Amino acid sequence: MCGIVGYIGIREAAPIIVEGLKRLEYRGYDSFGIATLNSTLVTMKKCGRISENEHCAVDLEGKVGIGHTRWATHGKPDDLNAHPHTDCTGSIAVVHNGIIENYAELRRELRERGHAFSSETDTEVIAHLIEEHYAGDLFDAVREAITHLEGSYAVLAMAQDDPRIIAARNASPLVIGIGDGELLAASDVTPLLDHTRKVVFLEDGDIATISPEQIIIWNGNGPVERSVSMIEWDVESAKKGGFEHFMIKEIFEQPDVFFHTASSLKDGAVIDAMRECGSMILVSCGTSYHAALIFRYLAEKYCSIPVRVELASEFKYYTPPLQGMVIGVTQSGETADTIAALKKARQFNCTTLGITNVLDSSVTRIADHTIYTRAGPEISVAATKSFIAQLAVFLQIINLLQDNQCEEVMAMVHRQIEDSLLIDLQGAVDACGRADHVFFVGRGPYYPVALEGALKMKEISYIHAEGYAAGELKHGPFALLSEKTPVIALCLPGESYGVMLSNIKEMKARGAPIIGIGIEGDRELEEIVDIMVGLPKCHLFGGILMSSVVLQLLAYHTARMLGRDIDKPRNLAKSVTVE
Ligand code: M6R
Repeated sequence: MCGIVGYIGIREAAPIIVEGLKRLEYRGYDSFGIATLNSTLVTMKKCGRISENEHCAVDLEGKVGIGHTRWATHGKPDDLNAHPHTDCTGSIAVVHNGIIENYAELRRELRERGHAFSSETDTEVIAHLIEEHYAGDLFDAVREAITHLEGSYAVLAMAQDDPRIIAARNASPLVIGIGDGELLAASDVTPLLDHTRKVVFLEDGDIATISPEQIIIWNGNGPVERSVSMIEWDVESAKKGGFEHFMIKEIFEQPDVFFHTASSLKDGAVIDAMRECGSMILVSCGTSYHAALIFRYLAEKYCSIPVRVELASEFKYYTPPLQGMVIGVTQSGETADTIAALKKARQFNCTTLGITNVLDSSVTRIADHTIYTRAGPEISVAATKSFIAQLAVFLQIINLLQDNQCEEVMAMVHRQIEDSLLIDLQGAVDACGRADHVFFVGRGPYYPVALEGALKMKEISYIHAEGYAAGELKHGPFALLSEKTPVIALCLPGESYGVMLSNIKEMKARGAPIIGIGIEGDRELEEIVDIMVGLPKCHLFGGILMSSVVLQLLAYHTARMLGRDIDKPRNLAKSVTVE
């Protein structure tokens, strides 16, 4: 996820683009760049935040321009990898959001045809493809170029000899703002609101020609009409895409995040190293630790690989020998304990892998291999989409280690995450909101799902929540059960189903109200629980993902009902860089 702004009109473009990019820094902030057209096309690119480097744009002149603030996905954050990217002649410039999945192949073919690349990005192939098709009309060239692209894109393009901006969209948002004698384009409405409230949302397959007075939109072989909307949001709500908090916005991004992350991980050196490693040790903290615990159950079940999972903060106290591959799972890539654990693993000559959401973060410099999750910047302190992205990596690893046997299931999971966003949780939210203590229980891979559900609940609602292996409750915590302690019980089909039903009956007999999370229409479960949250029928992978999303939503809505500061819970930081 990055931010895009374009301007064409009666005013100088650069200052408007600079202000617009500042509004978009929540979408990406490791580097930025702007191209403007006066008599020539001039491009400026810079590593770092725009708010600290805006002086770099003062010399840019022209009443048409495009800009970008980057959250790196291909190629480290530096001046060369910052957008805009240009063709071999420097007379075509593009900015892009999204991921071009076939960029490696396109890059190789373009190189064979003589194109010289100056960055490591997937985006640069778009500039060179436009160059190949350019014969005086930028619209025609962009239309041809995008036929070669696989993946998602929101693109703005400019050319030295063409006074227009061309915009194209596929599976990545792009919106046009209509001003008085000027038009703007952006990846969301935030940067437009200082100039206009009249906008047109482009749809997948749209290509728009933007000149100061008009916008013409094509889709397929002909022009199309798109309605004009009036935006009522203020800038803060716009940043959240109209959602009340970043957390809920990020929860709703999860179907796409899952899809992009899983499809970006292919067979190759890392998967080969896993095939050869013999065993794995995963080290991580908090939510990342819960994702790792889920992987353990699945990797051992489906791939027969012995997996150990350790809290990174405890790892230093374990006595070697250490063997196999050591994997640091960390959204931020900066968590001090996880970094320290990987350093220890290196001392014992273990192969190391970092799984992170942040390009070029510390973990990538320590580990032998890196796998990136593709969640985009996560603003809410509570990890949600980064967790789902870690699960996407883990499920895809299992799929690849099994020679793609889970491909169909993976495709279904993506849709099921969407379904789980719509499940009614009001009864469960009311029950949790009234309680001082809540238990979350599950068995097998649903045990770490329960741990994660409890973590979400406690960190944002401040209700005391315990995640427990359902079979452990009778070894002590039963003493706490009463009609005032709701239990969220994960009871989905699988090897633990029967014994979970018995555990639920035991808890109910001790007076605890039970909120069952199971499959819709499961009469046996419905009969013994007080509140039923029904999921669509699913495979184990779908059950894990859907129940995780449901528990995120349960925590969110409970915290919201209690009026908590959801995106910035008390006493917590997004990245924990001290041991
Ligand atoms: O960046 P990391 O994944 O290494 O962070 C680890 C934990 O601090 C983190 O997962 C934390 O538990 C979550 N923000 C909780 O929602």
